[in-house]
Amino acid sequence: MKRNDYSENMESLLGDCMGPGSMFDSIRQYLSTYGFDHYGDLDVREPEPSNVIPGSVLGLLSESLEKITTPVNGPIIDLGCSVGRTSFELSKKFNTSVIGIDLNFSMLQAAANVIETGRFTYPKRTEGIAYDKKIIETDFKDNNDVDFWVCDGLNLPFFDSLFSFGLSLNLLDCVGSPYLHLQEFARVLKQGANAIISTPYDWSPSAVPVENWLGGHSQRSESKGRSETMLRSLFSRGGHPDAIETLELIFEKQNLPWTVRIHNRSVMNYSVHVMGLKKLMVE
Ligand SMILES: C[S@@+](CC[C@H](N)C(=O)[O-])C[C@H]1O[C@@H](n2cnc3c(N)ncnc32)[C@H](O)[C@@H]1O
Repeated sequence: MKRNDYSENMESLLGDCMGPGSMFDSIRQYLSTYGFDHYGDLDVREPEPSNVIPGSVLGLLSESLEKITTPVNGPIIDLGCSVGRTSFELSKKFNTSVIGIDLNFSMLQAAANVIETGRFTYPKRTEGIAYDKKIIETDFKDNNDVDFWVCDGLNLPFFDSLFSFGLSLNLLDCVGSPYLHLQEFARVLKQGANAIISTPYDWSPSAVPVENWLGGHSQRSESKGRSETMLRSLFSRGGHPDAIETLELIFEKQNLPWTVRIHNRSVMNYSVHVMGLKKLMVE
């Protein structure tokens, strides 16, 4: 299942044999969804058959970066980078090295393949378990400033205070412990470094146990069950008993569009909350 050199026919045969809901199928669905959004803008034939415009993550990234005015002098971490387009864009914008991390081997393999061959290859789902093989040319070949590592955003294999900028796009509601993710994020950022977190707060017990959700329950509480209120309190000194006091909230953006394409006739439209943060002095 980890090979990525099958012909289109062989991939289709394997897909039919393994069937819907199999690991093979879920890998292809992930590659299809994130591959289309991250690289579809470079495909001259998109949008086809035209239900969604690719590149929503790129719009989200550039709108989030608008308010980052401090120079970035040092390495960047892109948490939950999936197929890696945001890592390439960060490296281009800030002219520095970027490590994209994710737990999904197949998505990182497709990302690393871009550096090796300059091409992004992915199966684009049409319907059911039918996928079209897509090959997209990029100009990221031999980009030695970008690397992709398979590792856990909850337990990062990096020293404290290493990164000069951090990105976590749409990851917070996907990890087993969002709070631990915030703590780890804070730990690996340098003092004075900026970071961006975006999330649609699409809480689901299949990804995050309900006791770890940061909001989305307990409407009777002070935060009224609102996740963004909970996050604001976690990022303000004394605002919450478990406040992450090394991260200061410096700006917010509301309702940025983020589109997740499922197949030719299905798409999910999210309204994402973006938070800009700054790592404070550790006392
Ligand atoms: C909703 S996707 C967002 C991908 C990308 N940042 C974007 O916005 O298009 C979440 C990503 O986080 C990854 N992920 C989930 N749990 C993770 C963890 N514990 N550590 C690192 N990555 C994780 C998934 O494999 C997936 O690629």
